[in-house]
Amino acid sequence: MSRFMILHPFRYLKRFMPKSLFGRSIIILLTPLIVVQVILSYMFFERHTDAILDSLAKGIVGDMQMVCDLVDEGMDQQQLATLAQKNFDFKVTIDPEGKVVKYGAYKDKWLYQYMEEQLNARLNHLYFLRIFGDVIHVKIPHERGVITIETPRKRLYSRTTHLVIVWTAVSALLLFIVASLFMRNQIRPIRRLANAAEKFGKGFDVSFRAEGATEVRQAGIAFMIMRDRIKRHIQERTEMLAGVSHDLRTPLARMKLQLAMMKKSSEVTDLQSDVEEMRRMVQGFLDFSKGVGQEEITPVVVKDVVDQAVAGIRHLPLFVSVVGDASITCPLKIELFKRCLTNLLLNSNRYGNNAIITIEQSDKFLTLMVDDDGPGIPEEERENVFRPFYRLDPARNLDSGGVGLGMSIARDVIRGHGGTMTLDKNEQGGLRVIIKIPC
Ligand SMILES: Nc1ncnc2c1ncn2[C@@H]1O[C@H](COP(=O)(O)OP(=O)(O)OP(=O)(O)O)[C@@H](O)[C@H]1O
Ligand SMILES: [Mg+2]
Repeated sequence: MSRFMILHPFRYLKRFMPKSLFGRSIIILLTPLIVVQVILSYMFFERHTDAILDSLAKGIVGDMQMVCDLVDEGMDQQQLATLAQKNFDFKVTIDPEGKVVKYGAYKDKWLYQYMEEQLNARLNHLYFLRIFGDVIHVKIPHERGVITIETPRKRLYSRTTHLVIVWTAVSALLLFIVASLFMRNQIRPIRRLANAAEKFGKGFDVSFRAEGATEVRQAGIAFMIMRDRIKRHIQERTEMLAGVSHDLRTPLARMKLQLAMMKKSSEVTDLQSDVEEMRRMVQGFLDFSKGVGQEEITPVVVKDVVDQAVAGIRHLPLFVSVVGDASITCPLKIELFKRCLTNLLLNSNRYGNNAIITIEQSDKFLTLMVDDDGPGIPEEERENVFRPFYRLDPARNLDSGGVGLGMSIARDVIRGHGGTMTLDKNEQGGLRVIIKIPC
């Protein structure tokens, strides 16, 4: 036994426990049933049966002693046989020529010990005992010959006695079946709730009805309230974003127009580029907010979506190759997902010349990696670049024209699928974006 087992016996046991609620409740149901069955069998065989067999054997041996006494008294053989048959269920014969070669008990049946004990204690003669088939044979040497007594085994023990155990086992089994059927019905609503929560987490629009026992129903209702709140929250956020962006467009357009009519100077050019940047930001927000609320999640072949995104940037100098399993499917919000990939590829194009997209699937997760040969992002900055408007080292980005929204939008999209987006470094020192989406 390892030290672990001694220190944490329950934790050790836990490893062998079933993982599902149904499995565990089956164990909870089964354990007491088995314990009861074991105790019952023990009580029945060890105590009850023992006592009964003792007293039955005592009775049989008493009757045998009586037969011997009658033989002693010289009773006629015929008369004795009739009497013993009638009163004791014994078949008695006396063979004047007979001989007994062996004494004691023939020990091949567990029942012999009860007879042997009583014969040793109560019979005033030597004997040979054998329980054979359904008959108990006893041979007793006597001056008048060898007395053979045969009596049905069921005087001592009947097979039906076993049935008590069988019947308790059968009724325990019935109890178990009924209980597990009930249990399954109780667990179904929990499973439904878990499924609904999981789907909602992945970005599906789930319809759900609270049902089951009070606590489960409570959890279900709480889930629905939470789901509605989150949906409302997302909707409000998107609407606000769209509203603000939309409202900003008009004054921006006006400013652009006014600037165009102004006399050319370096200040005006600076202002023009600022206004242009603002316009792009606002447009970016607007485009993004259009997609969010509406798009349905649908199962698609991932490679197809990736190819579409790549085709969308083919006018750029970036060289993109797509590798991995082309047959993988995953539920996605296609347009948003393409936007996310496009944002990443635009970055690769801005900071590098080549990109590789790898598609993989491992236990229920779609993994997508986007690698490029740019300068990469230092480790301490990898979380920051996901913040809206955060741009790394402005000197490096001079003239690149970005606003710092690409990454945060990309991550938002992936989170909307219930997934994660993280950054790493690849072998060439470039950036590796790792996307994981449950599917
Ligand atoms: N592939 C990459 N290689 C190196 N640095 C990167 C890469 N992708 C992003 N970055 C860094 O992360 C910062 C944030 O990226 P993000 O896409 O959010 O903004 P942006 O590309 O500057 O602007 P936008 O995408 O809004 O036009 C960038 O400014 C850049 O410094
Ligand atoms: Mg970008």
